[in-house]
Amino acid sequence: MTDTDTAIRPRRSALYMPASNAKAVEKARTLDADVIILDLEDAVAPEMKPAAREAAVAAVKAGGFGAREVVIRVNGIDTPWGAEDLRAAAEAGPDAVLVPKVDDADGVRLYDQYLNGAPPATRLWTMIETAKAAFHLWDIAGAVHGTRLSTWVMGVNDFAKEMRARQTPDRAPFLPLLTLSVAAARAHGLTILDGVHNDIEDLDALEAVCVQGVDFGFDGKTLIHPKHLAICNRVFSPSPEDIAWSQAVIAAFSAPENAGKGALRVDGKMAERLHLAQAQRLVAVAEAIAARSVAA
Ligand code: COA
Ligand code: MG
Repeated sequence: MTDTDTAIRPRRSALYMPASNAKAVEKARTLDADVIILDLEDAVAPEMKPAAREAAVAAVKAGGFGAREVVIRVNGIDTPWGAEDLRAAAEAGPDAVLVPKVDDADGVRLYDQYLNGAPPATRLWTMIETAKAAFHLWDIAGAVHGTRLSTWVMGVNDFAKEMRARQTPDRAPFLPLLTLSVAAARAHGLTILDGVHNDIEDLDALEAVCVQGVDFGFDGKTLIHPKHLAICNRVFSPSPEDIAWSQAVIAAFSAPENAGKGALRVDGKMAERLHLAQAQRLVAVAEAIAARSVAA
């Protein structure tokens, strides 16, 4: 898989669930999530870790997830479970293995080595959630070259904990990290997913934070509850208005009378060739989402 096709693959919603929760894992096969993250880490109590690992491996091997990507999030290599989680996850061969608390590029390369025996298609996803990582974003993203790294996932809960920061509704304490993470990810061709919204029931607040995630440029958002899926999928899909505008821009630039022009007037707005590239990407994303909906 190249960076380009990972970028176009829809990853609007990535739903976490404790791999030890058999009911949730079973339900995941029918939920409208682009990505399912079987968690062995924060969502699983220490005494349940071995059972969760076995359940995650069994779920990947059993399949039945359709178009959904399946990701196993392992415990850190500095915990009693990390090495065994990585060995088992590599052997199971999910779409990706998500690793926590990566501080720098050496961390990426270390985890990458643990995946040496995994199928070639298995990618490495890393959490961005430590104070140290905030100062190594460029290097961590640069480790995409020569490793399986393809995607970053923001871990806002752990980052807030380490910072002793408050999770305000506007997420002001995290804005610099979020912006710089998207910039580093884009510079190196990574996919990047926003952090979770902890309030299960406040769907208005969820919608606002999804819109904020789109505004930042995130490809999608990680979620903790199925109730969040519909809103997240809608907000992270190109709107009908955006699709119509993009198609108009593409049509305008391909009209013979506009050949050789760099800037055009389309529906009363300026469109330059950079907008043409954006429009082409947006239409490609919309088509990929439509194709996924048919396949699901
Ligand atoms: N994935 C899949 N199914 C889920 C789910 C999830 N993340 N969260 C809840 N469900 C299912 C439940 O199994 C239940 O199914 P049922 O109706 O068939 O019984 C239904 O959705 C309703 O669940 P609800 O009663 O609202 O949830 P809860 O109060 O039991 O659980 C949480 C709340 C937060 C414990 C649970 O949503 C959860 O474990 N979320 C994921 C946490 C996680 O993985 N964190 C790590 C990353 S931050
Ligand atoms: Mg975490």
